[in-house]
Amino acid sequence: GAGVFTYDPGFTSTAACKSTITFIDGDKGELLHRGYPIDQLASKSHYLEVCYLLLYGDLPTAKQLEDFESRVTNHTMLHEQMQYFFRGFRRDAHPMAIMVGVVGAMSAFYHDSTDITDPWQREVASIRLIAKMPTIAAWAYKYHVGQPFVYPRNDLDYASNFLRMCFAVPAEEYVVDPILSRAMDRIFTLHADHEQNASTSTVRLASSSGANPFACIAAGIACLWGPAHGGANQACLEMLKEIGTVDKIPEFIARAKDKNDPFRLMGFGHRVYKNFDPRATVMKQSADEVLDLMGIEDNPVLQVAKELEKQALEDPYFHDKKLFPNVDFYSGIILEAMGFPTSMFTPIFALSRTVGWISQWKEQLSDPEMKIGRPRQLYVGETLRDYVDIENR
Ligand code: SDX
Repeated sequence: GAGVFTYDPGFTSTAACKSTITFIDGDKGELLHRGYPIDQLASKSHYLEVCYLLLYGDLPTAKQLEDFESRVTNHTMLHEQMQYFFRGFRRDAHPMAIMVGVVGAMSAFYHDSTDITDPWQREVASIRLIAKMPTIAAWAYKYHVGQPFVYPRNDLDYASNFLRMCFAVPAEEYVVDPILSRAMDRIFTLHADHEQNASTSTVRLASSSGANPFACIAAGIACLWGPAHGGANQACLEMLKEIGTVDKIPEFIARAKDKNDPFRLMGFGHRVYKNFDPRATVMKQSADEVLDLMGIEDNPVLQVAKELEKQALEDPYFHDKKLFPNVDFYSGIILEAMGFPTSMFTPIFALSRTVGWISQWKEQLSDPEMKIGRPRQLYVGETLRDYVDIENR
């Protein structure tokens, strides 16, 4: 491409892999997908077009996009028998537990797209996963709240289909608000891929053994669930509610700075960003838009979030350690305003990130030097010693 990035040799020697998909400059707070900045994609593109970009390396022509969207639309249904997987869980099962189980089980239903040596099967698996994740996430939610499953429809766009599958009930039709659908689509785009984060590295490691794509994505979902990673959006909203009012903020900031207190400001800090996470900036704008639309201008949680951000950024501890809001800081506020419970925040992150995992999985498989992941260790345990019989211990 036009811009060829060169890395400091030291970095290259520690890099997990070479990739052409996503570039992050943590110091500048820059995020590029195939060279396109995330703020331009979030404002000018839409999720399925970004999926095409991540999967195939460039923005599609109108015809390419139409074909791609048609293929995704026509794969949104789940094998009818998969409903029994959902029904096997307790009603109070976390939707992420259901998603890990159902996605892993897909290899038992779609075994004609599990042979990773067949490029066509890899392509079919990719489309199936992107197409079916909204149905799986929506049905995990419906099962959780005790409502009947709502089937996808081919006359709705990707985000509208997901919102309708979540919120429509047989008793009355759910009319998707285009502004909400746009906000939902933007959240999908902002979470689509993020270089070699923990869950993507998990998918790459699993794929290096030749595991089928559904098993690899299930592994990524399991890793994303953790509160230090994708689970942070749920943990952040719960933290903002625990803070409750602006006057409680100093107490929580003091706790976050206290070395003896395990409390962290959820939605703050990042392994790579030492500047604003560009996704958080777009998310904050979106939060204002969606809450205005919902007529929740003076949302107390949003007020606490904005004041917490302001006070933390003015605090030398956060400033000196270069801790800024990340993608998870505002997303929960938007999702709750849309009507989602906190337990659905990470499933929505997983749904969005599936294209990133799949793109990186395909790149890993196309790497001629790909070997099974086998990290070494620094052994610091006992040196050689002989067995001691129990009577002599
Ligand atoms: C995601 O990798 C990705 O790309 C992930 C992600 C993606 O799109 O895939 O971006 C999504 O996972 C975003 C991160 C979501 N997690 C959270 O918001 C949880 C809260 N954040 C922290 O747990 C933490 O910031 C991490 C885990 C994200 C990063 O931890 P690090 O690697 O320890 O961060 P650091 O090295 O920059 O920390 C520097 C210092 C440390 O203190 P010292 O050891 O130097 O004394 O800052 C401290 C940290 O303890 N610190 C925090 C803090 N985050 C780091 N102190 C208080 N609150 C925080 N949130």
